[in-house]
Amino acid sequence: MKSSLIALAFAASTIAALTGIVAAKDEANKDALPPGSVSRAEGLEAWKRIEAVVTHPRCANCHVDAKAIPIWTPAGETRPRVHGMNIHGGDSRIGAEKVACSTCHMTSTQANDPAPSPPRAGIDWQLAPVQFIWFGKSGAEICTQLKDPKRNGGRDAVGLLAHLRHDASLNGFIPRGWAPGAGRTTPPGTFEDHVKDMALWGAAGQPCPN
Ligand code: HEC
Ligand code: HEC
Repeated sequence: MKSSLIALAFAASTIAALTGIVAAKDEANKDALPPGSVSRAEGLEAWKRIEAVVTHPRCANCHVDAKAIPIWTPAGETRPRVHGMNIHGGDSRIGAEKVACSTCHMTSTQANDPAPSPPRAGIDWQLAPVQFIWFGKSGAEICTQLKDPKRNGGRDAVGLLAHLRHDASLNGFIPRGWAPGAGRTTPPGTFEDHVKDMALWGAAGQPCPN
């Protein structure tokens, strides 16, 4: 009886998660522009704006390499540096091997408190997968990674839009880049501008600078 209840609860949460992904895909299909409707030049302009977002500390600080050392940019500083307190993401990327990220970064949909409180999100705090490395990379390198399904979680252009919408529906890391808590800088534009730029870049065939 107990195990069937657990199975039921598990099935319900799986269905809820799947419904969320389906809803995000529907939204992404609305965001998407017809392929080929945007020129390469306009696509490259959109990429420039995307590049300014993905290289910003609010995004790149988590998208780090296999060394799994998170980066932070304390209030009042502009240069990102190694996260204090000897924090390490480990192979788990959630710090399970040493100190879990969730010890300080709560899973919560409540707004972020002003710096220097640890930022939080509606999903468990963790580093991005190693293939999604942005920190220390050039814009051109990030561009080729972001459009490579082998290194971006199997996503095509619409799949990337769906990721933005799905993450936002969970109150995840991406919209919070623009709501990081007082005292922290934000990437240029707004979350909705970023979605529009990803749609433009996608419809132009995801062009990258040389
Ligand atoms: C707390 C750490 C964290 C922060 C901050 C963060 N991300 Fe991520 N990001 C992740 C994780 C974890 C994944 C993997 C999620 C998945 O694939 O389902 C990811 C995946 C992604 C992806 C999927 C494809 C790819 O190649 O990376 C995109 C796009 C993305 N993030 C954009 C952003 C943007 C834009 C920002 C800043 C506004 C940001 N992220 C900030 C942790 C973070
Ligand atoms: C002992 C508490 C603590 C633990 C554990 C911890 N953090 Fe942090 N983290 C903080 C605090 C506090 C800040 C904010 C520093 C500031 O802004 O001055 C922060 C900031 C960050 C930032 C910068 C966010 C931004 O927008 O620039 C990232 C990225 C980050 N942590 C990732 C992680 C990851 C990944 C883990 C787990 C492997 C982790 N942290 C574990 C306390 C912690």
